[in-house]
Amino acid sequence: MQELINRPRRLRMSPVLRDLVAETRLDPRMFVQPHFVVPGDGISEPIGAMPGIDHESVDRLVGTVGRDLELGIRSVLLFGVPDETVKRPDGSAAAAKDNLVSTAVTALKEKFGEQLVVITDVCLCAYTDHGHCGLIVDGKVDNDSTLPHLAAMALAHARAGADVVAPSDMMDGRVGAIRESLDDDGLVDTAIMSYSVKYASGYYGPFREAAQSAPSSGDRRSHQMDTRNRREALIEAELDIQEGADILMVKPALAFLDVVADLREAFPQPLAVYNVSGEYSMVKAAAERGWIDERTVVLENLHAFRRAGADIIITYHGRHALAEGWL
Ligand code: PBG
Ligand code: ZN
Repeated sequence: MQELINRPRRLRMSPVLRDLVAETRLDPRMFVQPHFVVPGDGISEPIGAMPGIDHESVDRLVGTVGRDLELGIRSVLLFGVPDETVKRPDGSAAAAKDNLVSTAVTALKEKFGEQLVVITDVCLCAYTDHGHCGLIVDGKVDNDSTLPHLAAMALAHARAGADVVAPSDMMDGRVGAIRESLDDDGLVDTAIMSYSVKYASGYYGPFREAAQSAPSSGDRRSHQMDTRNRREALIEAELDIQEGADILMVKPALAFLDVVADLREAFPQPLAVYNVSGEYSMVKAAAERGWIDERTVVLENLHAFRRAGADIIITYHGRHALAEGWL
């Protein structure tokens, strides 16, 4: 047999050597922890399909975020889960002065100030009685009449002190509409993280239960992207940048790493991935059954996001991973 000169295995011979040559690393400073905020006091209710994640009232949220900060998670993404009784066709409760998310933002900023980055999700679906992300006109999700409502929602969050607003609705032109309303109000330093490339995915199932935001009829395919498309992602991202997006996002994460790599290559802006609810629930469910090893799979997925080019990782796994010392 001919002698082997090149032996890639040489660099795999010990854990410390493997760490030395590892091409990607994780840092809790890149993690964003999502939270589901409900009205009331003293409420902390587990979400069935998302073990380890709870519905929390603002008082409980403040405690949880404090503990997460000690673990090293310094950014949060807030979703409001309002009572059914406040839902209207135009989702008006989303932008009301004392809305749930703004209340949470105020409480978090009061307690943690600049130690914490507060990001808020901007979309109407949890606030409309029909569960769609925009206003319905002639039976369709109407783009242009939805924009002022999204802008008002983002403005309410920004006025409460949100560092970043994150539109997830996928209406055309919403980043521009939000930027304009923030700037008109003097909130020139509030950043926009756009869900630029958001696919009409089956992986949002558990979230829709958690946010009680499933559409009562139809689906989201007239605004969210077709999962068969790759090049279209560049069009979406380019438009968002022109309209003033500061951070881009790809969502979901695991089935769309080609798109993450494309955006990394094409744009210098910070890039986030959203490791969504269904991706989380699949791992948790299989791990519970003993079919996979949770630590191995979670680290494999998180490193995959980094390998593909993500700077920011929005994930439900962060807290457990850090508490267990997996990083
Ligand atoms: C609201 C929104 C959704 C998610 C984030 N913002 C659901 C949807 O579009 O139906 C999904 C997050 C997750 O699944 O973890 N538009
Ligand atoms: Zn929505």
